[in-house]
Order: sequence, then structure tokens, then C-alpha cells
Amino acid sequence: MKKVLALVMALMLMALCGVATAEDAPKIGIAIYNFADNFMTLYRNELHRYLVEDLKIPEENVIIMDGKNDQAEQTNQIDGFIADNVDVMILNLVQTSSAASVIQKVDAAGIPTVFINREPTKEELDLSKLVCYVGADARQSGTFQGEIIAETENKGDFNGNGVVDYAMIMGDPENVDAQYRTEFSIKALEDAGLKVNKLYEQRGDWDQTKGQELAATVLTQFGNDVDVIFCNNDAMALGAYQAIVDNGRTVGKDIYLVGVDALDECQEMVKNGTMTGTVLNDHIGQSHTAADVALKAAKGEPMEQYYWVDYVKVTK
Ligand code: GAL
Repeated sequence: MKKVLALVMALMLMALCGVATAEDAPKIGIAIYNFADNFMTLYRNELHRYLVEDLKIPEENVIIMDGKNDQAEQTNQIDGFIADNVDVMILNLVQTSSAASVIQKVDAAGIPTVFINREPTKEELDLSKLVCYVGADARQSGTFQGEIIAETENKGDFNGNGVVDYAMIMGDPENVDAQYRTEFSIKALEDAGLKVNKLYEQRGDWDQTKGQELAATVLTQFGNDVDVIFCNNDAMALGAYQAIVDNGRTVGKDIYLVGVDALDECQEMVKNGTMTGTVLNDHIGQSHTAADVALKAAKGEPMEQYYWVDYVKVTK
């Protein structure tokens, strides 16, 4: 009798402390598009930490796969999660164009799925009640980038020709983050009554090295005509910064540079003036929301279709 009582008390204590055993806790399949991506690394680490440390999901129930930027590889990983009968999936697709087929697949398998970071279209999300999107509205980040430039003393015009002459270094153009940041940063300048002139626009696929190469090309080709380099993310802005330094230009004195994500390094640069500004892409808010929604869905609770997390403007 005493033993039974002790066991019951131990179980109650475990329940009170929120300690789950692998059998009773949900099994979560997480697919990240590319472990090499700076921002998604912050996101992934926080998602794992939050699930394991704060939500007490046993480590073995949190399975995180690297899509290595290859959709075929990631599709195999998703098929693996389905075969493994996971309770819920959190998916950061390699190619958003694969969303419809993935949604049909998870719907047929009856596995609730939270899409993160790369937003499927509304029509795609409409295909199943078992899917939702957790993310930030990329239009907001673009608008903030444009506003940061419009709010500078010379309104983004160093060469004094009355026009903001800019170069745009884009992420992967299939991604709405890249499309909207490109569009809305310039729209914000125009909405502020400024004239704009696009000197250059190329895809840098979110990558620092590519950002550096493209910015070097811009500066060689257009020299002092360039007032602003817009980068769709901070990794590419870090690369662009190196090209700016190599070219003998100075951020804040003869050129402006903006990114998105607010990587620690870039926050420091904004503080010391070597970057004009960035926009916080809140990986903590997004990863926590994704995990909370996923755990509810694993229990069979219905999901909303969208969960939004705000961006935050970062200037000196
Ligand atoms: C964006 C982020 C980029 C990159 C991309 C991957 O939201 O700003 O740095 O991580 O997602 O899809």
C-alpha cells in the first residue's frame, strides 16, 4: 500500500512539475530549410531550447532535420515524419512552391502542421484545416527599412541629385519575405514623398558571401551614384558592409546600409554607426508561438489559420 502511495505521489509530482515521459509527450517533427542560414539557426536553437527546457518535451521527441536547401531531401524527411507517425510537424519549407503538395500529404496523413518562416499562399492554407502559418508580415519589415532611410537627415540622398539612388540585394525571390521587403521598402520611400531610382537589383539568396560579391559589383559599377544599399536580410548586409569598406566608402558619411533580422552583430553595428539600421525579425516570439500552437494542435485542439508576430525597427 505504501509503495502504491509513493508511486501515485511521484506521478503527481511529475505531472505538477510538467515532466513528460517520451511515451506520453507528443512527438514533434521539425524540418528546417537549411541549417547553414544564420537567422534560421537562431530560430531553430530557440525552438529546440523552448520545447525541451521550458515546455519539458523530452529531447528524443523533438526531431529536427536539415533540408540542406534541397526540396527533394526535405520531402523525404517529411515522408519520414509521416511514416514515423509524429503527432505534429513544424515545417520551414525549402521551396514554398511545394506547399500545396505537402499540405495535401499532411492532410491525408491527418497530422497537424505548423508552417514557419516561408509563408504558403492563403489558397494553399485553405486546402486543409490541419495547417497554419506562424510568421511575421514581411510587408512591415520592408516598410520599416524604407522609413529608416526616409528618416535620415538628407533623406537618403548623399549625392544631392534629389533622388534616392539605391541598389537592392534580394533574398531568394520565390520567398514572400524577399518579394515584400523589396517592394515595401521602396514604397515607404515613395509614400514619404521621395523620388527613387533603382540602379541595381539582384538575388543574393540570403547569403553573406553573395551579398558581398553583389555589393562589390554595385560599387564598382555605380561608384558615388549609390546612396543606399538595401539588403533583404542582415547576413547579406554584413557582406555588403565588407564591400563598402573595401571600396573606401563610409556608412553614414557617404552611403546608407540597411538589413533585416537584427542579428547581434548587426545590432552592434547599428549602435556604432557602421550600419544605418535593421529590423528585428523576432525569432523568439515566432519560435515560441510555433511551439505553443504545435502542442495544442497535437492535443487535437483546432488552430487558427495565421499567427502573426511583429517586426521591430532598430536604429541608433
Ligand atoms: C527571412 C530572414 C532571412 C532568412 C530567410 C529564410 O525571414 O530574414 O535571413 O533566414 O527568412 O527563409
